[in-house]
Amino acid sequence: MASNVSELITYNAYLAGEWKESSSGETIAIKSPWLRQTIGNVQAVTREEVDAAIESAHAAQKEWAQKSLSERGTYLERWADELEKNAEEIARTVMQEVGKGYKDAKKEVVRTADLIRYTVQEALHMHGESLRGDGFPGGPQNKIGIVERVPLGVVLAISPFNYPVNLAASKIAPALMAGNGVIFKPATQGSVSGIKMIEALDKAGLPKGLLSLTTGRGSVIGDYLVEHKGIDMISFTGGSNTGHHLSQQSVMIPLVLELGGKDPAIVCEDADLDVAVKSIMNGAFSYSGQRCTAIKRVLVNEKVADRLVKKLKDAIEKLSVGSPEEDSTVVPLIDDKSADFVQSLIDDALAKNADLVIGNKRKDNLLYPTLLDHVTEDMDVAWIEPFGPVLPVIRVQSDEEAVEIANKSEFGLQASIFTQDVDRAFAIAKKVEAGTVQVNGRTERGPDHFPFLGVKSSGMGVQGIHHSLISMSRVKVTVLNLK
Ligand code: NAP
Ligand code: G3P
Repeated sequence: MASNVSELITYNAYLAGEWKESSSGETIAIKSPWLRQTIGNVQAVTREEVDAAIESAHAAQKEWAQKSLSERGTYLERWADELEKNAEEIARTVMQEVGKGYKDAKKEVVRTADLIRYTVQEALHMHGESLRGDGFPGGPQNKIGIVERVPLGVVLAISPFNYPVNLAASKIAPALMAGNGVIFKPATQGSVSGIKMIEALDKAGLPKGLLSLTTGRGSVIGDYLVEHKGIDMISFTGGSNTGHHLSQQSVMIPLVLELGGKDPAIVCEDADLDVAVKSIMNGAFSYSGQRCTAIKRVLVNEKVADRLVKKLKDAIEKLSVGSPEEDSTVVPLIDDKSADFVQSLIDDALAKNADLVIGNKRKDNLLYPTLLDHVTEDMDVAWIEPFGPVLPVIRVQSDEEAVEIANKSEFGLQASIFTQDVDRAFAIAKKVEAGTVQVNGRTERGPDHFPFLGVKSSGMGVQGIHHSLISMSRVKVTVLNLK
């Protein structure tokens, strides 16, 4: 596996079924977070190219919507096959571009092929319904309502950097299966991985024009795409600030937002601490905590806090730190700015007398896993999403206090509860404001057919294969009036 970049490719955008240079003549350099050198360039597409892509998507969508579900499924199955065939190459791109460990990058590609196949099967097995008209007293006996789901038109799929293949395909696959055209705007850092993924879809023979990939800075073409009259639905995954902004820009079209989180691990005094430590370590530090669903704070009962912190420290000492090529758990963060931000959270906590248990070491954008104990509510790290390998421990006296602090957060993506008492787990789960509560396991989105949602600043609407198909289609009712 090459660890340096031998040839610097300028990648074209995929506009209306053609791989093209942008007429802007501008490209954006993509710098690898761990090689710290440019690995390729992508096109900065223009507004006029966005207009043309959306127009083509509408034209192609009309024919696509007429195709049978099984025919649409055939294209997607071929896409999944192509992804699997090219899994090593795509994984290498993901590794270079976003600094994810090679094995995890490959898992992401294979997981995506599975997600696409499941999406096809789910769509094939979703049924409409028919209603009788006489549901009310004296209601009409001659009416039958036939309820189907129909496409929305053209879906705008905007994905973040951290799962550049999986989080893009989890929008594109249901959008296509539901009969829509797609405009795909990948995160700029993540565009090359997105391009490789779309090359696989192109090889699968997707009808020309149905999908376009518009690379370019969100700050430059983002608002233009979001406000475009030709967009009929937006599926966005990314930061909460960007999501808030989008929800102000988009008017009267369906919008699904999957945003940031501050997922707590609530550890009760009766928890199996080894189970808790294993899940917390994996949840907090894999891919350096750059997961929306990473465990981002621990709320532990004071009675077991010393033991838990000692076990976490021992486990952190064993974590591999370094290169994604060697599959290190903790890898360089996506850029220096992100590392500066995480460092500022650590500095703030230490200045306010948090205990540094381990970590607070840095080399450029590589931050060593950091555990902070005795974190209090006046510290930023108690509330702000770091997207990096820092774990604050907040000690609590009771389940009630844990729930109170959990719910004080502006976020509500997921939460984990560790206890050996299932009734206690359910009692806490009932009170925690989150899209999903995990009992005795790490916070995570997968498996990809589970509903996935955030409440409060963590999102709006529901993803997960079935729900994505629903959100990317609408109900249409045809009423048969019998004589
Ligand atoms: P981000 O900065 O919000 O970017 C996400 C996407 O939005 C990128 O494609 C970005 O393009 C685009 N964008 C930026 N400004 C835009 C605008 N004005 N209009 C339209 N699009 C715009 O997030 P990120 O740094 O890539 O990802 C990290 C964040 O995503 C974290 O907060 C994490 O928690 C969250 N996340 C959430 C989930 C979830 O499912 N809940 C999953 C993964 C990540 P550019 O890259 O070109 O700026
Ligand atoms: O940040 C993203 C999230 O979607 C990762 O997926 O299954 O590892 O939680 P998962």
